[in-house]
Amino acid sequence: MGRLCFSFMIGSNLLFLLFTHSFAVDNISPSQSIRDGTTLVSRGGSFELGFFSPGSSKNRYLGIWYKNIPVRTVVWVANRCNPINDSSGILMINSTGHLVLLGQNKSVVWWISSAKHAPSAKVEILDSGNLVLRDAGTYLWQSFDYPSDTLLPGMKMGWDLRTGIKRSLSAWKNSEDPCPGDFTYGIEMELDAYPEAYVRKGNAKYYRTGPWNGLRLSGLPELRPNPLYRFNFVYNYNEVYYMYNNLQNKSVISRLVLNQTASTCDRFTWIEAYQTWRAYSLVPRDLCDNYGICGANGKCIIGENPVCQCLKGFKPKSQEKWNLTDWSLGCVRNKPLSCQERYKDGFVKFVGLKLPDTTHSWVSKSMNLKECRTKCLKNCSCMAYTSSDIRGGGTGCAIWFGDLIDIRQFVANGQDLYIRMPASELENGVKVKTSMTIEVSVAVVFSGVLFVGYYLHRRRRKLRDIGETNQNNEGEPKKDLELPLFNLTTVIGATNNFSSDNKLGEGGFGPVYRGTLPDGQEIAVKRLSRSSGQGLNEFKNEIILFAKLQHRNLVKLLGCCIQGEEKMLIYEYMPNTSLDSFIFDQMREELLLDWPKRFHIICGIARGLLYLHQDSRLRIIHRDVKASNVLLDNEMNPKISDFGLARTLVGGDQTGGNTNRVVGTYGYMAPEYAIYGLFSVKSDVFSFGILVLEVISGRKNKGFYHPNYSHNLIGHAWILWNQGRPLELIDTRLGSSYTLSEVLRCIHVSLLCVQHRPEDRPTMASVLIMLGSEIPLAQPKQPGFFIETESLEAGVSPGNQWSTNKISITLLEAR
Ligand SMILES: *[C@@H]1O[C@H](CO)[C@@H](O)[C@H](O)[C@H]1NC(C)=O
Ligand SMILES: *[C@@H]1O[C@H](CO)[C@@H](O)[C@H](O)[C@H]1NC(C)=O
Ligand SMILES: *[C@@H]1O[C@H](CO)[C@@H](O)[C@H](O)[C@H]1NC(C)=O
Ligand SMILES: *[C@@H]1O[C@H](CO)[C@@H](O)[C@H](O)[C@H]1NC(C)=O
Ligand SMILES: *[C@@H]1O[C@H](CO)[C@@H](O)[C@H](O)[C@H]1NC(C)=O
Ligand SMILES: *[C@@H]1O[C@H](CO)[C@@H](O)[C@H](O)[C@H]1NC(C)=O
Ligand SMILES: *[C@@H]1O[C@H](CO)[C@@H](O)[C@H](O)[C@H]1NC(C)=O
Ligand SMILES: *[C@@H]1O[C@H](CO)[C@@H](O)[C@H](O)[C@H]1NC(C)=O
Ligand SMILES: *[C@@H]1O[C@H](CO)[C@@H](O)[C@H](O)[C@H]1NC(C)=O
Ligand SMILES: *[C@@H]1O[C@H](CO)[C@@H](O)[C@H](O)[C@H]1NC(C)=O
Ligand SMILES: *[C@@H]1O[C@H](CO)[C@@H](O)[C@H](O)[C@H]1NC(C)=O
Repeated sequence: MGRLCFSFMIGSNLLFLLFTHSFAVDNISPSQSIRDGTTLVSRGGSFELGFFSPGSSKNRYLGIWYKNIPVRTVVWVANRCNPINDSSGILMINSTGHLVLLGQNKSVVWWISSAKHAPSAKVEILDSGNLVLRDAGTYLWQSFDYPSDTLLPGMKMGWDLRTGIKRSLSAWKNSEDPCPGDFTYGIEMELDAYPEAYVRKGNAKYYRTGPWNGLRLSGLPELRPNPLYRFNFVYNYNEVYYMYNNLQNKSVISRLVLNQTASTCDRFTWIEAYQTWRAYSLVPRDLCDNYGICGANGKCIIGENPVCQCLKGFKPKSQEKWNLTDWSLGCVRNKPLSCQERYKDGFVKFVGLKLPDTTHSWVSKSMNLKECRTKCLKNCSCMAYTSSDIRGGGTGCAIWFGDLIDIRQFVANGQDLYIRMPASELENGVKVKTSMTIEVSVAVVFSGVLFVGYYLHRRRRKLRDIGETNQNNEGEPKKDLELPLFNLTTVIGATNNFSSDNKLGEGGFGPVYRGTLPDGQEIAVKRLSRSSGQGLNEFKNEIILFAKLQHRNLVKLLGCCIQGEEKMLIYEYMPNTSLDSFIFDQMREELLLDWPKRFHIICGIARGLLYLHQDSRLRIIHRDVKASNVLLDNEMNPKISDFGLARTLVGGDQTGGNTNRVVGTYGYMAPEYAIYGLFSVKSDVFSFGILVLEVISGRKNKGFYHPNYSHNLIGHAWILWNQGRPLELIDTRLGSSYTLSEVLRCIHVSLLCVQHRPEDRPTMASVLIMLGSEIPLAQPKQPGFFIETESLEAGVSPGNQWSTNKISITLLEAR
């Protein structure tokens, strides 16, 4: 026994020595080799090079994987299509200085030939995951030049125009075969054209990132500068490439992978706490990401039905096919260009786009927009132009020839494109759409002056808007309107003397009636309860302020009616009533709101709240964010109602504070607000988080029932999340027709919003960024109020998990 033990100890010591020896090595010199079973480990211990078998395959491949990640994650493979079928593999530098991988019978399975003969060259695995053949300081060869399916931080995807090396990703055939499938991702470039990154399936274009516009890729507006990684697109005479780098925290591990099986390109981030990779699908995100789905001269708009439309000034080539949602033939001009007669054509500015495919384009970095226009006008086949770099007011020139392909419309951060139109279409354009700026080529001095004025105005607005995460529609500048006062007689007439037939519901501050004004306009009348002690003038002033809050995600206040004891607010009428009637009706089998609509609604509510919290002239805390306070217009755009009433009718400093009278709805209130009356923008964020969970699950937070535990919806979501089963939260009526990454992201964000401590919750600005991009997110901490049976009283008793002695609200700043 003792001897056995002893010999075992020696054995394990030996093993230990062997291991530490082999694990400490990060390079081999000529005459040394790596056999199957031994590995090279980079100096900092990040990456390991060795032999592996993918999945259940028995084949052996030489590859690189993360050393410290227990889930074997291979980032590069040498002999991708040439496996070794036993453990005979050897990697070595042979006597003529070639790095060779030998298989059975010393047959050469894979090799690299360095351009220069360097007898003293070493092979080394670096901490970046790069395998290099180095001769002192110079790399004779590096694996980063020959990517497999993974782009690591610091790797370049693109062309080195000096050496001719083209670095692109190619997916594995499947999870057991690293041989390249037909799915590739790389940058393509024609001479003098705009370079762009394409995902191809075989030869066919599958997805396009859109050209780099100086700040981001035109087709990925949500990919913005962020604190986690920096990305860049370099384009000069020597090289053109895309690259990203971990910025602040080197220990964040992320990678970008092209996946044949799923036909996606995903960004993965390692979540240490959960010992798992979290994936964010970059490509494709939605229907409109399918290359050229709307055909030539069409544009794709998510949320529209159908998603494809012809560009203004164009019509379907075959109306019949178009009606059958076959958009492949695309669109043709309504009227031909009058190219021959010089300067008869003009341009219509389209905004908010992903720029079209740049295969037939031309770009100049030195031209300005005016020169660009002239250049385009001179060539009959030039169809559109825009600035190639949007930084600093827009420099550079990009012009397109022939049909415009693969355009999509974005809600925010899209780009401008000036599309050529015959003179006749230009006139139509002016009448039809005011949001399009028309440039008429004949320069009339007077209109020129006007244009400059308008331009300066726009510029000033632009400058003001920089850095904002949403586009608020404060609308066209108008002089501050006095709020219309409605005559009580009119309102009584409109609502049939507040008949119960016209009653739409009972809001937090009084009943709401539907009405029709003599001119036919439909209105919603909120009859405020009479308890407010506020003076009339004060009330009027407040309401005038609210009337100035205008945003597409806020219900529009049309006016008010103050007469005697009566105080009423007149709003625009929303035909589709409120969100709760669409999501909570579990009795209804059919799907009233599909996922794209739900996501659109979530983002809209977030924008509306951000506007209230931050972008409007007043800082408004809503204090009663809930499904029944989100109204839907006839295009199902969400509009927040009842904003600002808490401020007016209950009082309390709206930048945050303490109130004796808690307004709000149980089931949506943040703990600090419900218990201590402390409110802040973060208590709205809490309510927003609950609302998002409700939209995803189709179930109410309050009254949520689960057979196995007494948690409310928050608690349920929290449990599922921690058990790695977040998908079970999703409304079953959605079936599988949702974008997984979007839903997961929404669940993740909502859990961040309902965290117990207000200071842990994100602001609405961060929420919008998180919803709209693929930046890695923090792990949520324990939420507040997650047990349904907790009553408010229970909450304040000591020892309860969410009772804290003091909740400080330090994140607020006065404006
Ligand atoms: C390995 O492959 C060779 C031919 O490539 C074949 O002759 C040999 O039998 C295979 N060995 C095993 C164990 O499958
Ligand atoms: C080293 O490997 C290369 C590539 O396989 C081969 O061309 C060369 O002949 C080898 N040299 C020797 C000495 O075997
Ligand atoms: C490997 O070498 C052995 C002995 O030299 C020979 O019998 C066998 O056929 C060889 N196998 C292959 C696949 O070349
Ligand atoms: C980097 O991330 C690690 C783990 O996520 C964390 O422990 C560390 O504090 C972070 N460092 C910085 C500088 O943010
Ligand atoms: C590719 O996608 C499939 C299906 O979603 C998944 O099972 C597989 O793990 C993915 N492969 C990689 C390399 O991410
Ligand atoms: C296509 O649909 C529109 C509107 O639904 C209709 O007016 C038109 O006649 C249809 N055209 C064809 C060719 O089917
Ligand atoms: C117009 O542009 C096309 C495409 O670049 C080019 O082939 C053609 O020569 C140009 N025509 C003129 C008149 O410059
Ligand atoms: C309201 O309108 C009625 C009839 O049009 C008129 O008699 C009354 O004076 C008006 N009241 C006020 C306060 O303007
Ligand atoms: C409206 O109804 C109230 C009571 O509900 C009544 O006192 C009043 O006379 C009615 N007014 C009109 C104009 O019918
Ligand atoms: C929303 O309202 C419009 C116009 O009233 C109507 O056509 C549409 O069917 C409504 N949508 C739903 C989902 O009820
Ligand atoms: C409740 O728990 C039981 C036993 O753990 C499990 O089989 C059942 O699926 C759970 N019910 C639900 C709805 O999760």
